[in-house]
Amino acid sequence: MDWISFWDGSHAIYTSERHKQVHYARIAADIARFVPHPQARVLDYGCGEALGAQALAQACGQLTLSDAAPGVRQGLKARVAGNPRIHVLSPEEVAALPEGSFDLIVANSLLQYLSPQVRDDLMATWRRLLAPGGTLLVADVIPPHVSAVRDALALLRFGGAEGFLGSAVLGLVRTVFSPYRKLRADLGLSQYSEAAMLDVLAKAGFTARRVRPNVGHNQERMAFTANRAP
Ligand SMILES: C[S@@+](CC[C@H](N)C(=O)[O-])C[C@H]1O[C@@H](n2cnc3c(N)ncnc32)[C@H](O)[C@@H]1O
Repeated sequence: MDWISFWDGSHAIYTSERHKQVHYARIAADIARFVPHPQARVLDYGCGEALGAQALAQACGQLTLSDAAPGVRQGLKARVAGNPRIHVLSPEEVAALPEGSFDLIVANSLLQYLSPQVRDDLMATWRRLLAPGGTLLVADVIPPHVSAVRDALALLRFGGAEGFLGSAVLGLVRTVFSPYRKLRADLGLSQYSEAAMLDVLAKAGFTARRVRPNVGHNQERMAFTANRAP
């Protein structure tokens, strides 16, 4: 199994419906802070189930959702059908869009699942798709010192604050025996120091900086904004 098949199947990453709802509401609100103006064209790449898409779409002109998992895209299409501001595209359809199609491109909690080759290919695509003055937001990047245990502690704090502590505890116990843990052990996750991420972005032709807070609940992970280098 690879990561895309994992996300395409039924998984228990969200420990309860409440966890999933507050996760997606939080990231939609966090991403909205980066929307430069109400007509902005936004791409959420590796968007997952994007339960906050309707709310995010209200903060911008057009929202394009893209995910490599076909089943995830099918679910998204069913959910956003009828909202003329939201489009769901496959990665191949995104790659075929004209240069300068977006004012903001978001990759949240995606980089850890990408090999260096896929990551660099995607960075080149995103750079081409950014309009002049546009911004790439790469967020929820995992630094090398942040282990599964520290992720678990951050989830428990989030659960405590948002009213799903019980399901978070149960969910973490389930995770120990889950395919996610096995895949994380077998395939690993790509982790980056701040300097390494800035270097990747610079080599891809961006001028980048770290921004705080991170998108989402886990403030041990990092967010970066990047603009096309002149
Ligand atoms: C951890 S989820 C993140 C979902 C959402 N962005 C969030 O922050 O909750 C990672 C998502 O990235 C997608 N993904 C993984 N590799 C991808 C790739 N090469 N291109 C597009 N999407 C990819 C997976 O299918 C999955 O839905």
